[in-house]
Amino acid sequence: MGETPKSFRVGLIGTGRISDIYLTTLGKYPQVDIVACGSLDLEESRAKAQRYGVPRVAAPQEILADPDIDGILNLTIPAAHADVSMAALEAGKHVYSEKPLVSDLADGQRILDLATVQGLCVGNAPDTFLGVRWQTLRKLLDEGRIGTPTGCAAFVGTHGTERHNPNPDFYYQTGGGPMLDLGPYYLTAMVFLLGPIARVAGMANRAFDRRMIETGPRNGEWMAVEVDTHVQGLLEFSNGAAGTITMSFDIWDSEMPRFEVYGTEGTICIPDPDPVHGANIFQGEVWYRTRDTARWTHQPRPAGRDTWQIADTTHGLNEDSRGIGLIEMADAIAKGRVPRCSGALAYHVLEVMTGILQSPASGRYVTINSRPPVPDILPENFPES
Ligand SMILES: NC(=O)c1ccc[n+]([C@@H]2O[C@H](COP(=O)([O-])OP(=O)(O)OC[C@H]3O[C@@H](n4cnc5c(N)ncnc54)[C@H](O)[C@@H]3O)[C@@H](O)[C@H]2O)c1
Repeated sequence: MGETPKSFRVGLIGTGRISDIYLTTLGKYPQVDIVACGSLDLEESRAKAQRYGVPRVAAPQEILADPDIDGILNLTIPAAHADVSMAALEAGKHVYSEKPLVSDLADGQRILDLATVQGLCVGNAPDTFLGVRWQTLRKLLDEGRIGTPTGCAAFVGTHGTERHNPNPDFYYQTGGGPMLDLGPYYLTAMVFLLGPIARVAGMANRAFDRRMIETGPRNGEWMAVEVDTHVQGLLEFSNGAAGTITMSFDIWDSEMPRFEVYGTEGTICIPDPDPVHGANIFQGEVWYRTRDTARWTHQPRPAGRDTWQIADTTHGLNEDSRGIGLIEMADAIAKGRVPRCSGALAYHVLEVMTGILQSPASGRYVTINSRPPVPDILPENFPES
């Protein structure tokens, strides 16, 4: 009889808001075992450990020093991503981090270089492109449903985070802002769908120099805004396709929240690609229209107001499954292949985002040098539960 393969043993650092969905998702699959958690606030970590059955709570340094831990799940705020990920690699552990990879390109390169030297793996969110929506979209493209892709557009307009997040400071500090916060979802999906991006340009501004927290114990407190909060980018893909991206914290509402891909024979549209409602971005309708159809075809086809048929692919996940990228990374490590949510992909997306943000000051296009591996569509049986 074969031995049951050992789970990938993970230490979680950062037990704030996003950790709940990770602990929920990871609790469903045997491939990854969260064996310890910690943060700057061990009371918060204790409460999460109790709720999700994590056996040990420890200071981040103790988690990093534990020889029985294979990998670190870094769910800290963006300003701490680089230090925690570097410390994980220095301690000989694989690391999977929330987005963005880091805020500064040089830090991103240091992380990738150290991982290579150490023979370790770096993985990074977002993993939303593993969801059924984006997998369906990719399948339609691969089938040639809209011919040759020639362009794409992503638009997400929000009014920021201070109305629902009691500690929204990091979204407005250096390293935050809508492009670094929301851009990774759409740019990662674009690279998954259309391949790498070769050059970019951008425009950006900010509507407010300070913003008020409007919820929780700090309700009424003002925060300084250090970054541009309305950002627009132009993208040229290596395959010649041209794209646009608008990410904003300065928009009260819009009828334009769309993600679209244009091709020589048709258009594919995701009508509500909203990362604030996590399930929305993993699942939901994909529409397409070709030269042969007068109307949008909805996939999955709505059978009634609140019943949905699953898209005609079993690839991808049909609920908010943040954390699934770590399971995919553990599988990749076991099989000696590059994970789909790779550090190289996250670095490329970071290079694109920083290029868009730097372009307004120089008034020039910015060349993107990195060429990450483009993830394959998921196999039918992923993840095995
Ligand atoms: N909140 C969301 O809706 C959401 C959604 C998607 C992705 N994210 C991403 O998840 C990450 C975390 O966001 P969040 O909303 O959970 O933040 P949060 O402020 O709620 O939690 C951050 C956690 O990191 C810990 N931490 C901060 N600095 C640390 C350090 N130097 N060492 C160890 N621990 C440290 C804090 O103690 C806390 O436990 C960010 O990268 C964010 O972009 C958040």
